[in-house]
Amino acid sequence: MDFCYIEDIGKHEGEKVTLKGWLYNKRSKGKIHFLLVRDGTGIIQCVLTKGEVADNIFNTSDELTQESSLEVTGTVRQDQRAPGGYELNLSDLKIIQIAQDYPITPKPHGTTFLFDHRHLYLRSRRPHAILKVRNELIWAIRNYFYKNKFVLIDTPLLTGSVGETTSTLFETQYLNEGKAYLAQTGQLYLEAAIAAFGKVYCFGPTFRAEKSKTRRHLTEFWMVEAEEAFYDNDDNMDLQEDFLIFIVNWILEKCQEELKELERDISPLEKVKKPFYRISYDEAVEKLKKAGSKIEWGTDFGGEDETILTKMFDRPVFVYNYPKKARAFYMKPHPTRDDVVLCADLLAPEGYGEIIGGSQRNDDYDSLVQRIKEENLPLDAYKWFLDLRKYGSVPHSGFGLGVERTLTWICGLSHIRESIPFPRTIYRLYP
Ligand code: 4AD
Ligand code: MG
Repeated sequence: MDFCYIEDIGKHEGEKVTLKGWLYNKRSKGKIHFLLVRDGTGIIQCVLTKGEVADNIFNTSDELTQESSLEVTGTVRQDQRAPGGYELNLSDLKIIQIAQDYPITPKPHGTTFLFDHRHLYLRSRRPHAILKVRNELIWAIRNYFYKNKFVLIDTPLLTGSVGETTSTLFETQYLNEGKAYLAQTGQLYLEAAIAAFGKVYCFGPTFRAEKSKTRRHLTEFWMVEAEEAFYDNDDNMDLQEDFLIFIVNWILEKCQEELKELERDISPLEKVKKPFYRISYDEAVEKLKKAGSKIEWGTDFGGEDETILTKMFDRPVFVYNYPKKARAFYMKPHPTRDDVVLCADLLAPEGYGEIIGGSQRNDDYDSLVQRIKEENLPLDAYKWFLDLRKYGSVPHSGFGLGVERTLTWICGLSHIRESIPFPRTIYRLYP
């Protein structure tokens, strides 16, 4: 390779190096041109001085427009005042392509405009920082499960049985086999895999035809799901607590620069320590009513309710045992109460709300059949799933963490669309 990356520039102090990238910005002070060059790994100021380079090279830089691609060669110089701590004193400059009028200029633009140009907007500092954190978040997640000996089980994205609820399904005709749905979850398949591997996880895109326009919903989002044989609902919460602390610490360690770029106040993240708060759904409803919410026992929390609730706590909070009628068919009924199920949502602080949904699973054949019927789901489609309750059924639990919800909170963003490279929402299928 005949060039070096900006992130490695510190290893080459005093040496002559070549960088390849794009022009982010430029300014001029008569005989000196300052070119801000980025290459994906960083941004560096390059200095072109008249008289130190051939005139034709000095003049070339006049032609350079924002986002033109180029190759620069120069000597690395340490400079405390420079953004990354280094500058490049140029001896050569080659244009690869002169960019046409680039639509995203340094002046402020509206959100719709920026997301209509998401294919270009990715190059700007803010999305760049967020997606670097996303990269680390995903590494942290995979690392955690690998270290804790969970086996990765890739679950299908085209499914015959409804995973969560019929209200948000994307449907398609599957050759001659009838209807298929895009996966809302990989959970049912993980439940099969625990009897083979004990502790498993899956990680992939999931799909929900969310017809509401909120700052928390995407129609395509990434979910990591874990499933554990012989874990009850409490063991499941302990695991989630450990998992979340691990990933938050990882980001705090690896993403200092990015969080700074995003002006994220990290003190709430530093408070993510054991133990998280744990309150029952009943208690949560009481607290909400006292705070003026119109919530009625039996309904799910709206985004606003979660915001109010999480602002009461300075750390993540589990809300456990939701009403049966507000939850999916597969959750285990409470042993002594008819109206709630053994489950928990983990709500992120600072008003962010649910980032994890989890539960103990119904491991009893007859009661599961009854719940499938109550929800008007076709028993036939669950024949294989019910088999799992016939051949060595065990107590088990699991959970799913939404990557974009988690990243939105960690980065302190106000809308989920910023947390994924190409967001899919109710009104957006392009770019
Ligand atoms: O609470 P949910 O629906 O749970 C499940 O899908 C279970 N099968 C998980 C399991 O137990 N294996 O979704 C889990 C998480 C939510 O807490 C949220 O973080 C995220 O997925 N999520 C969404 N993220 C973005 N846009 C949406 N429309 C989302 N719906 C759920
Ligand atoms: Mg949920």
